[in-house]
Amino acid sequence: MLTTLLFLSTLLPTTLTTNPYYPYPNGTNSTNPTSPSASGTSVPTPTLSPIPIPPCQTFYPTDLRILNSRYPNFDMSPLHGRDNMFMLLRQLPSTFQIATQVQFTLGPVSPSTYSPNATCHLHLALPLTSTQTIAGPQPIFNLYQVAREAGSLATWDMFEARNVSGWEPAVFGQVNGTAEARDTQWATQGGLYDIGPTRCNETLTWQAGMAFDGGEEVNYWEFINVRPPASPEQGFRVVTGVGC
Ligand SMILES: *[C@@H]1O[C@H](CO)[C@@H](O)[C@H](O)[C@H]1NC(C)=O
Ligand SMILES: *[C@@H]1O[C@H](CO)[C@@H](O)[C@H](O)[C@H]1NC(C)=O
Ligand SMILES: *[C@@H]1O[C@H](CO)[C@@H](O)[C@H](O)[C@H]1NC(C)=O
Ligand SMILES: *[C@@H]1O[C@H](CO)[C@@H](O)[C@H](O)[C@H]1NC(C)=O
Ligand SMILES: *[C@@H]1O[C@H](CO)[C@@H](O)[C@H](O)[C@H]1NC(C)=O
Ligand SMILES: *[C@@H]1O[C@H](CO)[C@@H](O)[C@H](O)[C@H]1NC(C)=O
Repeated sequence: MLTTLLFLSTLLPTTLTTNPYYPYPNGTNSTNPTSPSASGTSVPTPTLSPIPIPPCQTFYPTDLRILNSRYPNFDMSPLHGRDNMFMLLRQLPSTFQIATQVQFTLGPVSPSTYSPNATCHLHLALPLTSTQTIAGPQPIFNLYQVAREAGSLATWDMFEARNVSGWEPAVFGQVNGTAEARDTQWATQGGLYDIGPTRCNETLTWQAGMAFDGGEEVNYWEFINVRPPASPEQGFRVVTGVGC
């Protein structure tokens, strides 16, 4: 019984035990191993309330980084130093490519933000036609989830889908940005793509790259990620919780 109680208590972050939303059963005060009552057989079986799921939370990117195959080690320049610009470019295997890394910093698990092992969804709110540049026969991009420290260096050499010996990482999700697909998305989802779910984490990072060569034309997509209170809100966000 004692070991069960100790095990259960380790599942709960210590900061949560005093939170009113995490009612700890009265009997569990006896988990202190020096407490005489802990060795007794009358300790009631704890009935932990299910951990409540926080209400819907929205996180906006802390950082968008341009990755350019022409400057594989580049991290600093007016373009590469921007933190809110999304740009993808791909034409032929022989021409340079541009990808973008999108990073979110959620911070540690907390009762007001996200619960342990919560599911986070990556969303893309389509920019208005007037606030983006989109071109080519297949402006369709893949997202690859990568593990990165918050604020860490991001260069083309660190783009996991940069096609070293034809190897490609697992695709997390794909966004179809052809005119027809965007029209459908506006008509049915208000322009919102729910790209996919993942487990929430202090830091969440995705790399985006065009899925296909353009051939005669360049597959290209560019916009500024805009978060509230600026508007119109457009670009990437992560949502988690109840009612999202
Ligand atoms: C358990 O501990 C809390 C915090 O120390 C205290 O407020 C509460 O009265 C204790 N309950 C019992 C049954 O001892
Ligand atoms: C737990 O403690 C609260 C406040 O101390 C008390 O109102 C409640 O009756 C107790 N519950 C049980 C099952 O002992
Ligand atoms: C979270 O997931 C891990 C690994 O699947 C598991 O060991 C742990 O018990 C889970 N924690 C909670 C609070 O569900
Ligand atoms: C989870 O967050 C930690 C802390 O920021 C980070 O080191 C790790 O790479 C992240 N894992 C994933 C899968 O993103
Ligand atoms: C990787 O290179 C191969 C061979 O050139 C090509 O067929 C494939 O489309 C490339 N994939 C990506 C993601 O660039
Ligand atoms: C992209 O969307 C268009 C229009 O719905 C569709 O015809 C095309 O097959 C889609 N492409 C991919 C790769 O899913």
